[in-house]
Amino acid sequence: MPLEVVVLAAGQGKRMRSALPKVLHPLGGRPLLAHVLDAARALGARRTIVVHGHGAEAVRAAFAQAEVQWVLQAEQLGTGHAMQQALPQLSSDAQVLILYGDVPLVRVATLKRLLEAAGSGVAVLTTELDDPSGYGRIVRNSAGRVQRIVEEKDATAEERAIGEINGGIMALDARRLGSWLAKLGNRNAQKEYYLTDVVTFAIADGVPVNALKVADALEVAGVNSKGELALLERELQRREAERLLDEGVSLADPARIDVRGTLECATDVAIDVNCVFEGQVRLGAGVRVGPNCLLRNVTVGAATEVLAFSHLENSEIGARCRIGPFARLRPGVSLGDEVHIGNFVELKASRLARGSKANHLSYIGDTEVGQRVNVGAGTITCNYDGAAKHRTIIEDDCFIGSDTTLVAPVRVARGSYIGAGSTISKDTPEGQLTLARSRQVSIAGWTPPKKKS
Ligand code: UD1
Ligand code: CA
Repeated sequence: MPLEVVVLAAGQGKRMRSALPKVLHPLGGRPLLAHVLDAARALGARRTIVVHGHGAEAVRAAFAQAEVQWVLQAEQLGTGHAMQQALPQLSSDAQVLILYGDVPLVRVATLKRLLEAAGSGVAVLTTELDDPSGYGRIVRNSAGRVQRIVEEKDATAEERAIGEINGGIMALDARRLGSWLAKLGNRNAQKEYYLTDVVTFAIADGVPVNALKVADALEVAGVNSKGELALLERELQRREAERLLDEGVSLADPARIDVRGTLECATDVAIDVNCVFEGQVRLGAGVRVGPNCLLRNVTVGAATEVLAFSHLENSEIGARCRIGPFARLRPGVSLGDEVHIGNFVELKASRLARGSKANHLSYIGDTEVGQRVNVGAGTITCNYDGAAKHRTIIEDDCFIGSDTTLVAPVRVARGSYIGAGSTISKDTPEGQLTLARSRQVSIAGWTPPKKKS
């Protein structure tokens, strides 16, 4: 049977106390809903329908590229009502999987087992909780078969004592869904159309309802507050750290790494504490990342060392480089192999070829640097004239003395030496020493000014 997924995501999430729609809150750097859509994709769903309501425009805009069908539930009258809105979009030959936009950590393997457990009937995902309060309870008969789901507010004291709860995720056959949804009423404590009443109708029709009970309650945990979001963030990061360790990455402390995107590591990568990886990050074999670094959308070549407190963004770094401590790579930086970037050096939209070094206190922007160039301490490219940006070119084998300012556009030709403290505003000739600073003078007989008494 082809699979069609419905994601219920219309709820407001009042307890988040935020202007942002709940399903857009980030988990691992991506909206909650993105994690749920990933699961639908991984299952090979033929169609994914998202029932949305609160913050509809913002939610659609955030997922403008996603291949989903949007269904608007203008008024949130319950999970059953949400499914009624989605029903016209479903095909009758499909197996339907219902996911929640705010339940992001369910494993794809678990969902596959749920679909199997449903077969041509119904299956619900459940778990056992020490404190089941707030959830719907799974009521079973003496033979242990699921009979119905009762919401806490409608439950008797005896039912409230049941520890097995409804995770909300459900799989069923589309052919029967329509007739069951048509029968839903809202005569209950919350005056809502409960999707869970479908279980009662299925049993009445002789359709088996299976429960797949998961041991890991976090798989069905929803996000209703910032506290729950933080809890799930830790779980996501724990899983990510576990994956990295399994792949052979050395983590100084698996509890102190944050991956907000995808981190790909070759063999023998070592990562110290408190590093944050955002977007797409790729680390080559033997790369070492020191403590407290942030890497966003960067590729790092083999055996490169990134030292403590470095901030690297949208850049490509070659092999055997040494970056940091306290280095800043802004977007558009490309470093060849064996490049050294030291402390308090800021690079932007610049290329440094093999073996070049900028080890101390520099700003290099919109610059092309050749091979084996030494950029002295305190060197600054003046790339901005107040209106436009200009490029600086430093060819191979140049030596830029400390505290040089390079006023762009300017070209420093191959093998140039620039004397310390120079302000270079004209192109320099190949292989010569260029100095551009006033001559040192000492005034004999000079006396310091005296204070008037
Ligand atoms: C629901 C279940 C409950 C289960 C719990 C698990 C019902 C009646 N109850 O409870 O048995 O234990 O989930 O978390 O189904 N939504 C809509 N439109 C609506 C209402 C909800 O799209 O009109 C969406 C929400 O955005 C959310 C999901 O459905 O993603 C669940 O809604 P929520 O209000 O959290 O469900 P509960 O009533 O807590
Ligand atoms: Ca909920």
